[in-house]
Amino acid sequence: MNLLENYSLLPHNTFGMDVYARYFAEYDTVDELADFLQTDLARSHKLLPIGAGSNLLFTGDYDGIVLHSRVRFCTIVGDTPDEVLVRVGSGVVWDDFCDDMCARGFGGIENLSYIPGEIGASAVQNIGAYGVEAKDVIVCVETIETATGQAHTFDAAACDYGYRHSIFKSELQGQHIVTAVTYRLQKKPTLRLDYGNLRDTLSHIAHPTVADVRQAVIDIRRQKLPEPAELGSAGSFFKNPVVPAAQFEALRAQYPTMPHYPAGDAQVKIPAAWLIEQCGWKGKTVGGAAVYDKQPLVLVNKNHATPADVQILAQQIVDSVITKFNIKIDPEANYI
Ligand code: EPU
Repeated sequence: MNLLENYSLLPHNTFGMDVYARYFAEYDTVDELADFLQTDLARSHKLLPIGAGSNLLFTGDYDGIVLHSRVRFCTIVGDTPDEVLVRVGSGVVWDDFCDDMCARGFGGIENLSYIPGEIGASAVQNIGAYGVEAKDVIVCVETIETATGQAHTFDAAACDYGYRHSIFKSELQGQHIVTAVTYRLQKKPTLRLDYGNLRDTLSHIAHPTVADVRQAVIDIRRQKLPEPAELGSAGSFFKNPVVPAAQFEALRAQYPTMPHYPAGDAQVKIPAAWLIEQCGWKGKTVGGAAVYDKQPLVLVNKNHATPADVQILAQQIVDSVITKFNIKIDPEANYI
């Protein structure tokens, strides 16, 4: 266990907040983590497991122990003519895994290419993009229970997955640390190209492969989303709101161009990016924080933003969307 005290979290949050952790602990094996959780130090401090810190907003210094996994392996644990089961350590970089699987021609996660973060967070956040979510390919999630150090395995149904939601973010929040995830991938992939302009982007290729889809997704993401290394952000800062169909119809009468997607059960999903843009926020700033001009769902650290700058900007956006549309948008980024 690599244990550091009063440690800057600047390299561990993509927003680029210069805050400190009282302790920062990195582990290479699951046993190391389980043993550490039984120590007096771990038992007497609050714990925060993080991945690449790509979905976090630190609101100040963290007076506890930030835990980071270096459990890195990727093993094929099942192999049939149609599919492979791949078990991956929580500290593997998500897009390295994606790249590896797409290069081997295994399908299922090509639409999730270039999402920042690590394997552990893919299972906690249920990451999603271009019509695919992590839950579509997750078989099971292995964890260590923080209170006991015991190992557990949750099958996908037990994870209670929903849009950017899992049991690890709700009922079991803070109680389990993900150590490995097993994914089911296809050897004869069915490509999913129906989201947005993905099919158009690939129209020059007669028979696209998963590697082609991966490249198209990377190209689209690069156009719309900031590169974390160049401009700090936490990706989408807000979730897309889901409203009852009747509320949507009333809004549509007033705003006929409002984009929308069916969300099941007489519910309609409305892109928060559109709502935020309509409220005039594109490119606006509060202190060093700004609304990204190419995708207003993303808040960026334009110029040494403080946590307060980001929080004030986010709250002003929420308030203005409520005032104009009577819709409450919720952050996707986790405030710490
Ligand atoms: N839009 C605008 N103005 C803009 C940009 C978008 O009005 O400047 C509207 C358009 O109507 C557009 C719609 O928003 O059709 C949807 O935009 P986009 O395809 O960019 O997707 P999104 O709903 O804004 C979600 C995810 C992204 C994911 C993309 C692609 C959430 C919170 N965000 O964004 O995820 O990459 O779809 O699947 O669901 C992330 O979670 O960090 C993330 C980037």
